[in-house]
Amino acid sequence: MIDRIINAAQEPIDKEDTEVEITLRPRDFDSYIGQERLKANLKLAIAAAKKRNEPLDHILLYGPPGLGKTTMASVIANEMNTQIRITSGPAVERPGDLASLLTNLTDGDILFIDEIHRLHRTVEEVLYTAMEDYKLDIMIGKGPSARSLRLDLPKFTIIGATTRTGAIAAPLRDRFGHVHRLDFYTVSEIESIIIRAARILGVEIKPSAAKILATRARLTPRIANRLLKRVRDYADINGDGIVDNSMANQSLELLDIDQLGLDPADRMLLAAIIDNYHGGPVGVETLAAITSDERTTIEDMIEPYLLQIGLLERTSRGRKVTAKAYAHLGKINDNDPDQTSLIN
Ligand code: ADE
Repeated sequence: MIDRIINAAQEPIDKEDTEVEITLRPRDFDSYIGQERLKANLKLAIAAAKKRNEPLDHILLYGPPGLGKTTMASVIANEMNTQIRITSGPAVERPGDLASLLTNLTDGDILFIDEIHRLHRTVEEVLYTAMEDYKLDIMIGKGPSARSLRLDLPKFTIIGATTRTGAIAAPLRDRFGHVHRLDFYTVSEIESIIIRAARILGVEIKPSAAKILATRARLTPRIANRLLKRVRDYADINGDGIVDNSMANQSLELLDIDQLGLDPADRMLLAAIIDNYHGGPVGVETLAAITSDERTTIEDMIEPYLLQIGLLERTSRGRKVTAKAYAHLGKINDNDPDQTSLIN
């Protein structure tokens, strides 16, 4: 996939991005902006676990990339005063890798597994008993001398993160005591996140400029922080370093990010559905062919925001662009008699 500034996936555009992202990460619930319902549920679970002196139940967090699943996992560890170990589905290649991760934990520790839907089947099966009984069944040796060994594990908590719950096998999903979705943020939450990040990074930004950035950050903190850094570069070179409306608008123009936060690839996708498929419905495979992306990239990263802001809608026969998309792209909607009569 090409690097797009509005790409919310975790792959950093550069190393500095990752470092800045870590600096900006809120460490506790008080500094974590948004996701209010999730925070309320987690605060309750944490208070109850602490009161009973028990580990937290396993937690599954799902939702589009960039909304703060990893950040929330480290906030939970901090609020529980426990350690967190971070890994990802594809990184745990064999049951032995999982065994080594789990046996190195101590009571109450959290193991965060990002992209948990990408765990290997053999690893996933070992994880079931580990999550349920804090026991690990592993095979030692091969052939006739092979024997199974049952290890006692510390009382750990798994926090799993995934872009889609649908991709997780039911037996795994059922072993999580909490399953929570992270929603897109509101524009005003993103505005607060930008103002907080600017304060931490020492960027002077006018409130009205923060508002402009907030409307174009795809309701996603990771993108908001990235835009803030690009606008800061622009203001440092083309102005006096202060981010005002004019600096914000000019730099977004240079990045080719429009009023709704769409980049050229998003606009090309919508335009192709309108021009080649009468606005749809089209199957997700067709969308993937239009953009040369993987189907999962479309489903997990590109379309959730387009659906959220009402440019695309899901029907039983596929995805359709909406009247709002026609209007945004300045295209005539010949499916819509009202619109055709308006221009006649
Ligand atoms: N930075 C990234 N996500 C954030 C959030 N939800 N709250 C505060 N700062 C953030």
